[in-house]
Amino acid sequence: MPNLIEIKNIEKSYLKAGSNFGDTKVKVLKGVTLTIEEGLCVGLIGESGSGKSTLTRLILGLEKPDKGNGTILIEGQPVRQWIKANQGKMSVVFQDYASSINPQYTVRETIEEPLRAMGHTGNLAGKIDVLLDKVSLSPDLKDRYPHELSGGQVQRVCIARAISTNPRCIVLDEAISSLDVSVQIQVLKLLHKLRLEMKMTYLFVAHDLQAVAHLCNKMVFLYRGEIVEELMSGDLANAQNEYAKSLLASVIPFS
Ligand SMILES: Nc1ncnc2c1ncn2[C@@H]1O[C@H](COP(=O)(O)OP(=O)(O)O)[C@@H](O)[C@H]1O
Ligand SMILES: [Mg+2]
Repeated sequence: MPNLIEIKNIEKSYLKAGSNFGDTKVKVLKGVTLTIEEGLCVGLIGESGSGKSTLTRLILGLEKPDKGNGTILIEGQPVRQWIKANQGKMSVVFQDYASSINPQYTVRETIEEPLRAMGHTGNLAGKIDVLLDKVSLSPDLKDRYPHELSGGQVQRVCIARAISTNPRCIVLDEAISSLDVSVQIQVLKLLHKLRLEMKMTYLFVAHDLQAVAHLCNKMVFLYRGEIVEELMSGDLANAQNEYAKSLLASVIPFS
């Protein structure tokens, strides 16, 4: 499998909370190196504050890493260059779906937004129906507003929006973490089905290994800004790192 995203020795620092001037910085990512192969589901697991969202923002080109030797390349190109040249080919679904969509947009308008941003004009009704069907939502929900939907339904709308542009890759930052467990399982199954159907690459970010263990081909453990373990899913028994081992020990076997 060719590499889609190659992250090499990335560092990221933020100003320390409460510091006014100067250089009181905290290093949140400490030399992170990670490869995301095309077509795989890569799980990025780490406790709250370990730097997962920071890393995803760098991959999405929303922030820049510290100046230095580190690089983030997508298909060999610097992130921002690739994203500009490949509009709609990298999508994102956030945990906080309530604030990641506009409460004044209907379901239809929400799903249409990225397509319109890419210059699609005219009637997209047929396309919206197909997308709603793909995420198992009734077409009757088209004219509803987010507050008229359940959390699971809103997250399906976010997924429909994310796949509307036929992306190569979707970054899911704790995309299911706010949902009830039974709904989490439904959304995981949906994501799995879509990935295979549409041949997408996923970066699946989670603090909870249980949620992703059965979806991911590769699992990467981030601990305090460092990748401490990287395992293919068939190789979980070979974990060396204590943190990774403790998380893996808590996963209920799947049969
Ligand atoms: N914009 C920011 N400014 C300052 N500190 C930040 C910023 N974003 C994240 N941090 C800090 O970086 C650390 C990692 O945060 P984050 O990447 O959100 O972790 P995670 O997603 O794993 O919970 C935290 O200590 C957080 O407070
Ligand atoms: Mg986060």
